[in-house]
Amino acid sequence: MPELPQIVEIRRTQKETGQHQTYYFEFDKAKDAKPGQFLMVWIPGVDEKPISLSSIGKEVAITVQCKGLWSEKLCGIGKGLKVGVRGPYGNGFSTEGVKKAIIVAGGCGTAPIRPLVEKCLTEGIDTRVVVGAQTAEILLFRKELEDKLGDNLYITTDDGSAGKKGFTTDALKELIGEDKPDVVFSCGPEVMMKAIFDLCEKEKVECQLSLERYMRCGFGICGQCVMDDLMVCKDGPVFNSEQLRNSKEFGKVARLKSGREVDLKEFANWRQC
Ligand code: FES
Repeated sequence: MPELPQIVEIRRTQKETGQHQTYYFEFDKAKDAKPGQFLMVWIPGVDEKPISLSSIGKEVAITVQCKGLWSEKLCGIGKGLKVGVRGPYGNGFSTEGVKKAIIVAGGCGTAPIRPLVEKCLTEGIDTRVVVGAQTAEILLFRKELEDKLGDNLYITTDDGSAGKKGFTTDALKELIGEDKPDVVFSCGPEVMMKAIFDLCEKEKVECQLSLERYMRCGFGICGQCVMDDLMVCKDGPVFNSEQLRNSKEFGKVARLKSGREVDLKEFANWRQC
């Protein structure tokens, strides 16, 4: 049965960068969610969107980039705004049996990685994290991750304004070369994750990647989020190496709201986090 959104009030907001804000609210159903799971968040009169949880507990949070009608409405009002939420949906990342992990986050993909880092550290997993962005100004959760990870945090920026100039995949290549992990977890632009997948295949390292597709229902009914024969909302959004190895669409195409298949560049221009 479709689930009706529960109306919650944004309790507090946190400006993360010049472009990103985090919104905290109470939503009991998500207090024990897994990192990588998402909520369908409805702003009445605007739209409903799938947004990954960027904090999990008594108070949960979502982090968005203030760009586009939906996000700008949220960013424009913030605290006190009432939104409808359903979920949590999707499978989330699995840390079962993992002793050594590398986590790679790009851009807005750092949001679901934040509770994953927390979980890995709590479980005593040997964790190295690579975070990348175009510039230092839009690096998400930099201070928090530096405090938690120290020397195990590796930053890359496209322009060299923080960390190493280059891409997250350059840093990952070096880290895998030094010491192979049991798994590479990642969330970010799909082009980046395809490069991560190819590298992991070459190095024979398992990966779990969180993908994004246009979603409507969020729980496997409408078929809007299909990738090959998989529903990204229900079978994912986190997919493992074996699933991705067999995919004809991963790293190549996605579908717009209309169902039209487009290449990933066009999809990236359309989507927002
Ligand atoms: S969003 Fe409806 S099936 Fe996935």
